[in-house]
Amino acid sequence: MNSRESSAAHPDGTSNAVAPDFDVEHFRRALGQFATGVTIVTTLAPDGSPIGLTANSFNSVSLEPPLVLWSLSRRAASLEVFRNRSHYAVNVLASDQIQVSRRFGSGKNYLAGGRFENIDWRPGNHGIPLLTGCCAWFECFNRSRYDEGDHIIFVGEVERCGIEAREPLVFQNSLYHMTQPHPERDSS
Ligand SMILES: Cc1cc2nc3c(=O)[nH]c(=O)nc-3n(C[C@H](O)[C@H](O)[C@H](O)COP(=O)(O)O)c2cc1C
Repeated sequence: MNSRESSAAHPDGTSNAVAPDFDVEHFRRALGQFATGVTIVTTLAPDGSPIGLTANSFNSVSLEPPLVLWSLSRRAASLEVFRNRSHYAVNVLASDQIQVSRRFGSGKNYLAGGRFENIDWRPGNHGIPLLTGCCAWFECFNRSRYDEGDHIIFVGEVERCGIEAREPLVFQNSLYHMTQPHPERDSS
């Protein structure tokens, strides 16, 4: 076992989780209570056309080195492309980009860059699409991938990132939201 693998066994000797006492729909709804941002993960297909999908599984992993993660369904049409490309970009959507989220999350227009029609973008390093109008973007080296359940976890090493002063799009309980600062401020 190398350092990238971990055993399912717990150090105290327990080797298996007990079977879930809930169904998939209940689990999905419970997970949906966790509010997230919304991203479009982009890369280039082998023929050079831009591809991308909506993902809210994005999260930070490490500051030094700079690492992020996101997970991709095994059923995604783009799976093999993302597995094999050396780089991808994570574009963090702004609050006025709901239509972009819907288009890239719909399962349609996957081929021949169709999702990018009438979408403004520029090529970043390695030609990977950076969408115009986002809050932030991360250009990532495709550092490692982990098969877990029905998804593949992608860990990206961030080579460049940018921030734009825009309000973020938020997703919670299957609905899109806009943020509003809480009146009670964090004292830390
Ligand atoms: C708000 C939102 C978040 C999503 N997050 C993810 C995600 O993190 N991982 C994933 O595999 N699919 C996610 N999806 C679904 C994919 O965007 C969708 O299945 C897409 O069609 C997959 O693209 P592909 O099959 O063309 O590769 C999300 C969809 C929406 C609308």
